[in-house]
Amino acid sequence: MKTLIAANWKMHGDLSWADKPAEFRGIYPKDKSGVECLICPPSFLLPALVKQGEENEILVGAQNCHAETSGAFTGEISAPMIAGLGATHVIVGHSERRSLFGETDDDVSAKAEAALNANIIPIICIGESEAERRAEKELDVATMQLANSIPDCAKGANFVVAYEPVWAIGTGLTPTLADIRVMHNHIRGLLTDRFGQKHGANIQILYGGSVKPGNAEEILAIDNVNGALIGGASLDMESFAAIAMAA
Ligand code: 13P
Repeated sequence: MKTLIAANWKMHGDLSWADKPAEFRGIYPKDKSGVECLICPPSFLLPALVKQGEENEILVGAQNCHAETSGAFTGEISAPMIAGLGATHVIVGHSERRSLFGETDDDVSAKAEAALNANIIPIICIGESEAERRAEKELDVATMQLANSIPDCAKGANFVVAYEPVWAIGTGLTPTLADIRVMHNHIRGLLTDRFGQKHGANIQILYGGSVKPGNAEEILAIDNVNGALIGGASLDMESFAAIAMAA
């Protein structure tokens, strides 16, 4: 399985950011066949980034999609539109979408299904809140979120799971390495239970939440951590490349 190093730029950037894949490749050479790099920019940058991504061997994905293919949904973008641009992935169920835009597990499942129907890979995000972690409910939360956010049509390795504890996002806090190991083993067990050993073992499980050049190597070395989903540290190509290098 390849290691996926994914940038989530959130609502940052302007048109000049289309040059970032080339900047990235200037720092990080293309010789690591076991590492896939992905940038998920705001939607307006997708066409320019796909073009630059092809030239620089960087995958490009969206940060969200609507569950319907088209219709009267002002401000939304559909999975076939994203696929038509040449993007390969779409993040669904990011905790900011869940908490700020009220998305439920059912919504996330419908969006992931739309992505699969459009032949793009959904990155299905899960993760507990600070209160849930304090109450030692994080494994139960992950079990429920995974059970309900992965659509019935998902088969084997056509999707990615990202574990992002809400309290670790943008805070500089991370779980201990032992806690990340426990969670990722738990997620792997849930995936092999549902999809069988052959498929479940090949689903990439990303860790996200305050990944930085300084902690990437030790996090990426943990069993069943198959990549990272990076916010703040992915906005600067020096630090994004340093994280890819750590993989
Ligand atoms: P930070 O890396 O800024 O903590 O954000 C993580 C994240 O939300 C990626 O999707």
